[in-house]
Amino acid sequence: MNILMVCLGNICRSPLAEGILKHKVDSAHTYVDSAGTAGYHVGYPPDSRSIKVAQENGIDISQQRCRKFTVCDFDSFDLIYAMDKSNYSNIIGLARNKKDSEKVTLLLSEINVKNKEVPDPYYDSEDGFEKVFQMIDKACDVIAARL
Ligand code: 4NP
Repeated sequence: MNILMVCLGNICRSPLAEGILKHKVDSAHTYVDSAGTAGYHVGYPPDSRSIKVAQENGIDISQQRCRKFTVCDFDSFDLIYAMDKSNYSNIIGLARNKKDSEKVTLLLSEINVKNKEVPDPYYDSEDGFEKVFQMIDKACDVIAARL
């Protein structure tokens, strides 16, 4: 199973989602990656605040490098998780057919919360990153349990 986590910049939320899910699954059976719908930070490591909150929770995401989502990702991945509704629409906008669009889901649709969006913590304090970590962690527990 190949799973892709997608946000806007691929430096705050989706690198956390990649690191958290990787931490919960067997890498021999599940491949996890992340990408951004925008290309502002391609080639850069995750935001230092994401690296820090991951590290505090025992996960190293410092070696990840930002990349942009491409239409080929629809062929390479079985499941594509969007962090918020804007990411979701951007990915759906690139889908070539029904099969592509059916692969795309909001990450928080996996858990029972009212607001299905992982908020963008980029302009937030470090506290925002901890909250985002906890939301993603809960959703990844559900995904990992089903694999
Ligand atoms: P992300 O956060 O989508 O969680 O990686 C953002 C990072 C950078 C920007 C926006 C969101 N930016 O506008 O540069």
